[in-house]
Amino acid sequence: MDNDAQAAPLLGIDIGGSGIKGALVRAQTGELLTERYRLETPQPSTPDAVARTVAKIVRFFDYQGTVGCTFPAIVKGGVTLSAANVDKGWVGLDADALLTEATGCEVHLLNDADAAGRAEVTFGAGKDRAGVVIVLTLGTGIGSALFLDGTLVPNTEFGHLFLAGGQEAEAWASDRARKDEDLHWKKWGGRLDAYLKHLEFIFSPDLFILGGGVSKKSDKFMEFLDLKTPVVPAALRNEAGIVGAALWAAHAE
Ligand code: BGC
Repeated sequence: MDNDAQAAPLLGIDIGGSGIKGALVRAQTGELLTERYRLETPQPSTPDAVARTVAKIVRFFDYQGTVGCTFPAIVKGGVTLSAANVDKGWVGLDADALLTEATGCEVHLLNDADAAGRAEVTFGAGKDRAGVVIVLTLGTGIGSALFLDGTLVPNTEFGHLFLAGGQEAEAWASDRARKDEDLHWKKWGGRLDAYLKHLEFIFSPDLFILGGGVSKKSDKFMEFLDLKTPVVPAALRNEAGIVGAALWAAHAE
């Protein structure tokens, strides 16, 4: 690959429960080269409807290269294998093939938290951090990414752990739970603390990175976390998914 080809911007697309966002990214630096272009996620979020929306984003950028795309579910070899917060039609679907066909570009999907984690470990709060790093995205669901010395163990799904008391972590400690149950910060912070303590006991991590929209408000809940492991907010905030998607496209090229 020559230097010009290496510098070619890559399109990263972040498929979320409410919005689908894309931007051109310089994968070597993690820098966004354009504004983010956002369209509403179609409801219901069926594969065909989402594929049409992704194709509109690709057309908006008049883009022709490899596309990296996040998805809020287990993704293995381009096949989506779960659908906790999206239309069940995605389960068992060759999503890489569907989106490649819909866009006319080669598209590669990866789990949304794995994408955000890759971005954080490459450019953000986990850069140059050795050992076991756990990145959690706290949003509608809870996404997770587990790294050992910068290498990802994909599709960990720690949001679906069951905690003492029988509650699923995602239903109990996600940002959606905070909003739906109208929990004050101390109460929600206490839940997050209990969940992180469980992860701490199981994995003995060296660092927790907390991402997702609520990480912008970390000053409201960090004081309620009482862990032996360092906990830091994500550095890339709402760009992490797009940047991680572009890294995935670069990896596939
Ligand atoms: C899904 C994960 C996803 C997370 C965040 C969970 O419900 O199972 O795959 O990473 O939500 O979107």
